[in-house]
Amino acid sequence: MILSPLEGRVYQGVRGFETHLKEEIGGYKASWGTLYHGKAVKGPVFWNQNVWRAPFRMEFGSISEAAKALREIQRNWAPVLFTQFRRGALIRSQLPPLSHKPRPFPWLAPDVPMGAWTLADPHTIIASAQCSSPFPGGIIEFEEDKQGPPSRAYLKLWEALVRCGAWPGPGDRCLDAGASPGGWTWAAARLGAEVLAVDRAPLEERILAMPGVEFIKHDAFTLKPQSIGPIRWLLCDVVCYPPRLYQWIARWLDSGLCENFICTIKMQGLPDIETTRRFAAIPGSMVAHLYHNKHELTWMKVRDA
Ligand SMILES: C[S@@+](CC[C@H](N)C(=O)[O-])C[C@H]1O[C@@H](n2cnc3c(N)ncnc32)[C@H](O)[C@@H]1O
Repeated sequence: MILSPLEGRVYQGVRGFETHLKEEIGGYKASWGTLYHGKAVKGPVFWNQNVWRAPFRMEFGSISEAAKALREIQRNWAPVLFTQFRRGALIRSQLPPLSHKPRPFPWLAPDVPMGAWTLADPHTIIASAQCSSPFPGGIIEFEEDKQGPPSRAYLKLWEALVRCGAWPGPGDRCLDAGASPGGWTWAAARLGAEVLAVDRAPLEERILAMPGVEFIKHDAFTLKPQSIGPIRWLLCDVVCYPPRLYQWIARWLDSGLCENFICTIKMQGLPDIETTRRFAAIPGSMVAHLYHNKHELTWMKVRDA
């Protein structure tokens, strides 16, 4: 068995948005499915499902030899296969099991390393013990609520909160901008938070009827932080050009009136990389493409994350 480190990173692209990733990493040496092996880019890379931070190549003879070598490094290894599925399944069967059960919310992700591996050919594994996502292969599924929320948009909020390891609690004052039809408001109100929902479109009646929910029909961006007052969480899923969102968030940051932020940066046409970088440069924050995001990224800034 020969194990050799690979210089740089392996970036796992998001299906449908691989072009965005390729532009960000500026070329790559090799690829396997949606995995791209390139140099370690300075600064954050946004359009990925997972970054393999310490990749290596392992040439092996037998399936049990490969599984043993991975087990000796650490417990958790998520397969990300694009070829050699049968062989991959055999290796996987000799690794400690990973739970693929949908998670309840709230859920605190265990703080343990989550590795990832793929098969480049029958006798070559590409793997990394350290990855950017705490979820196997960058994937998290939740136990969905098919009755309560009016749409599935709440899933990306849940995922962001799990990534941050924090969520609104009973009595926490939240502003939900771009709240309609009410998925994020439902998610926060269900945790016992006091939610001020703002949208130019109406909130669903049954969401409005939830305890702690108040609604104002307004352009979120013309609301001044000082007129809202102190809030624990600012949640924003407004469809708008990213610079518009950035200007408004900058006012909130300057005001010091909000502790925690979860905002979707929606891309209109080509991704706005310049504004995304400005968001990512805000101290204590992170921008990621979440598993539940579409053509959008999520900016998260949570005080104790
Ligand atoms: C993707 S939807 C939000 C979905 C919501 N988070 C949910 O879970 O149901 C985007 C919302 O942004 C609202 N919106 C767009 N521009 C806005 C603005 N300037 N102020 C407030 N809301 C706005 C739209 O009316 C729309 O309801």
